[in-house]
Amino acid sequence: MTLSVINGKVLLNGELAEKNVIIENGKIIDISDNSSGETINAAGKIILPGLIDIHTHMREPGLTHKEDFLTGSMAAAAGGVTTILEMPNTKPPTTTLAALEEKREMAKKAVVNYGIYMGATADNMEQVMKASNIAGVKIYMGSSTGNLLVTDTEVIKKFFSSGKRIIVHAEDEELMNKNAARYKGESNPEIHAKIRSSEVESSAIKNAASMLSSCNYKQVHFTHTSTKESMSIVKEAKKNNNISCDVTPHHLFLTADELGRQGNFAKMNPALRSREDVNALWNAINEGVVDCIATDHAAHTKEEKEASYWEAPSGVPGLETMLPLLLDAVNKNRLTLQRLAELTAANPAKLFGVRNKGKIEIGYDADLVVVDMDKTKEVKNEELFTKCKWSPFSGWKLRGWPVMTIVNGNVVYDEGAVNDIKGREVALE
Ligand code: DOR
Ligand code: ZN
Repeated sequence: MTLSVINGKVLLNGELAEKNVIIENGKIIDISDNSSGETINAAGKIILPGLIDIHTHMREPGLTHKEDFLTGSMAAAAGGVTTILEMPNTKPPTTTLAALEEKREMAKKAVVNYGIYMGATADNMEQVMKASNIAGVKIYMGSSTGNLLVTDTEVIKKFFSSGKRIIVHAEDEELMNKNAARYKGESNPEIHAKIRSSEVESSAIKNAASMLSSCNYKQVHFTHTSTKESMSIVKEAKKNNNISCDVTPHHLFLTADELGRQGNFAKMNPALRSREDVNALWNAINEGVVDCIATDHAAHTKEEKEASYWEAPSGVPGLETMLPLLLDAVNKNRLTLQRLAELTAANPAKLFGVRNKGKIEIGYDADLVVVDMDKTKEVKNEELFTKCKWSPFSGWKLRGWPVMTIVNGNVVYDEGAVNDIKGREVALE
């Protein structure tokens, strides 16, 4: 089948060009003034490479009351995200080859493309070494949702030197537990930012960075880095090759004040930060210290979030709001479209070895998002595809929205509706 997306402006090599994109058998076969087959009129719209979100939680198996591969991937499609990399803190966690294969089966429900991480434990190195085509190995240096945690320096160094891509959740478990003990008698969600303080994060990143000097690593990626100090530590660490980081939309657009306003609905790990930290993240984005933007899409039900501070789980959904938030920022001149596409498509593809994706180029996979830079719309809970049906950005009026998402040449999202056409597991280097 041939499909042509015509009359739009296409982001090609960092520039917008009025070209048609011609797709056959899921691949881009031509970018020119020609067209053939069925046509989609994208007049007045911009065509970007589909987003690759390197940090998502689909909750399958074991936590499907929160999300599953179908609902989570529908949220992805609605947010212009055509590939998701999925985290291992499920039930059971993805720490064995058997659990990996079980997850692969479940992921077939997804309507976007996907890759799967494994989780590191004190004793699963052997399993991880046998795994093929995984997105990487996640190390939780601090505990979060689920029970994955590795605090032993020797174990962490072994994983760093394993030849696998490593993705690090950097929070200092010991420091965090000390802080938690101090606030034991309190229950206002605002204590979250004090327990999971910026020192908790920078201490872990510093420790990890110092371990790296004695490790022969393939790539070490610090995920959801969120503070001014983290940015300077990562900047220094990046003087060595193959060290990278991402930031989340919630750390870019919200501050710790939200814990006062939204309570546990603004509780996530790492915690929301100060205005000064937020500004430092934006500077780091524009300076090139930040490599990717990734959602850490982590749905929990409203009921779970309505529990007391100590009971309520950490995490917020983000797949449907990342692109509108960033397009709104482009409209406000905080970011360029080129940089947006680098941070959400080209760099994730390059750093995580996602083959044949992340750019609009002849021969690449036809994973595209058509955006309307002038569309203004409010984020509404009832319109969300995520199973949890809430967002910390609910009520935000944003200008710039995805209107169509094409995955492997198929129209999977079209103006508010998702078509159930399956994605596939990506090839990873
Ligand atoms: O806020 C978070 N939620 N941070 C994590 O590290 C895990 C995630 C989840 O799975 O809920
Ligand atoms: Zn996460």
